[in-house]
Amino acid sequence: MDKYIGAIDQGTTSTRFIVFNRQGEIAAISQKEHRQIYPQPGWAEHDPLQIWQHTQEVITQALRESNIGPAELDSIGVTNQRETTLLWDKTTGKPYHNAIVWQCTRTQQICEELEQHGGNDRFRDKTGLPISTYFSGPKIKWILENVPEAREAAEKGEALFGTMETWVIWWLTGGPRGGAHITDVTNASRTMLMNLYTLDWDDEILDILQIPEQILPHIVPSSDSETWGNTLPDGPLQEEIPVCGAVGDQQAALVGQTCFQVGEAKNTYGTGCFLLMNTGNEPIFSTHGLLTTLAYQFDGEQAVYCLEGPVATAGALVQWLRDNLRFIDHAYEVEHLAQKVEDNAGVYIIPAFSGLLAPYWRPDARGTICGLTGYADRNHIARAALESTAYQVKDIVETMNKDNTVELQSLKADGGMIDNHLLMQFQADILNVPVIRPLIRETTCLGAAYAAGLASGFWSGTPELRENWQEDTRWHPQMSRDIREAKYKKWQEAVSRSFNWSN
Ligand SMILES: Nc1ncnc2c1ncn2[C@@H]1O[C@H](COP(=O)(O)OP(=O)(O)OP(=O)(O)O)[C@@H](O)[C@H]1O
Ligand SMILES: [Mg+2]
Repeated sequence: MDKYIGAIDQGTTSTRFIVFNRQGEIAAISQKEHRQIYPQPGWAEHDPLQIWQHTQEVITQALRESNIGPAELDSIGVTNQRETTLLWDKTTGKPYHNAIVWQCTRTQQICEELEQHGGNDRFRDKTGLPISTYFSGPKIKWILENVPEAREAAEKGEALFGTMETWVIWWLTGGPRGGAHITDVTNASRTMLMNLYTLDWDDEILDILQIPEQILPHIVPSSDSETWGNTLPDGPLQEEIPVCGAVGDQQAALVGQTCFQVGEAKNTYGTGCFLLMNTGNEPIFSTHGLLTTLAYQFDGEQAVYCLEGPVATAGALVQWLRDNLRFIDHAYEVEHLAQKVEDNAGVYIIPAFSGLLAPYWRPDARGTICGLTGYADRNHIARAALESTAYQVKDIVETMNKDNTVELQSLKADGGMIDNHLLMQFQADILNVPVIRPLIRETTCLGAAYAAGLASGFWSGTPELRENWQEDTRWHPQMSRDIREAKYKKWQEAVSRSFNWSN
């Protein structure tokens, strides 16, 4: 009997569990959304205990509905929303504070103070990152400064820090009863605390941020034959199954899209958008505002790096139209509205809900709608919302082309928004390169499964994984150069209007 691999995707909006077969096809799936907590404008939190509860529920449900027994699972991989930060008590598992979500801007002041000595790029040589509210390091500092109990416990060695993969793996492998406290290199590279070359925590940065090293997890490869721990027979998997793969969600999608060669890139259209390009075994530094980060490290191999352009708000704007404006009942309906009109009627939306990430890095930017006239209606707004995602990706591609001598020839796409034909066509038009959708779309979970299955020997190596990748749909550019350039110029003008709103 051929076995399966189980993958947990602890995402920003939901948690899912997917069981894959050897061909990378889905054999079982279950998903559950969790609560988004917004205590103030620009702040975002998650309840970590609800997330662990949902993780257990989706595992149980997927196995029950598919009739796949836990004993049929070879191993488990975990992928996660990155940077989201949590500290908890290691003897009780109780969090000291809600998890601070990656989009949250509460650390703006901390970041400004850090910049005062050495500027925004003072840690870039070591970490590949600018100082930003986005990364975990400043979020840890915020918790330690604002929750006295957490600072005290951290100094005494009673507190643990983790991003969401660390939290989930700790519970899966025993929690207070000896759970593994680990983070993989991709997640560690987003803390702004890890040295890109040594793949270890950086003492100097820890000192500057006043973070005690004893709270930090052990940094491990993304795919590791030295199993971190097994699931527990009295846990949701009911068996001892090795947990041996962990990759941050965006890097997991890169792996799931099998972008194993230098120059290969993918863009994921989910809550935000994240374009990652494999740059091989050496970190390449951007001079135009992209991040240098870990792509993956497979068992016994050298680490692989990538250049990344993150966009904070993409599908989240569609959710906002749905939940806050009640424009639509379901995300896909945004396409029905947008289809009713030929163009955006000059309307541009800059969804800078929590500032703008790459390539602008403007925490002071806020959401802006430009170019409104009495002619514009909800259909134009829907269209402008979708187009804003494509323009933000265009900003990243333009930047990546400046940093690279070779221009991007096509774009592999994945994530929830790729069901949207109008968006995909507009993306091809505005980029002027084909956009390609793979047959297996759950690339994030698949990447986590691949990491686990490579470590356990379930898959023989990356060539076998490449055979699983197949093209489904390809959108070819159809827009004239004049129109493309005129539209993009207006977009850039609109972006400049979103600056200087907060502080
Ligand atoms: N047909 C559609 N058109 C436009 N947007 C869509 C469509 N379907 C889904 N979305 C958007 O895609 C996002 C969900 O995609 P996906 O599940 O990939 O998100 P995600 O970022 O992986 O979530 P998480 O952060 O929880 O991992 C939502 O923000 C939703 O608004
Ligand atoms: Mg996701």
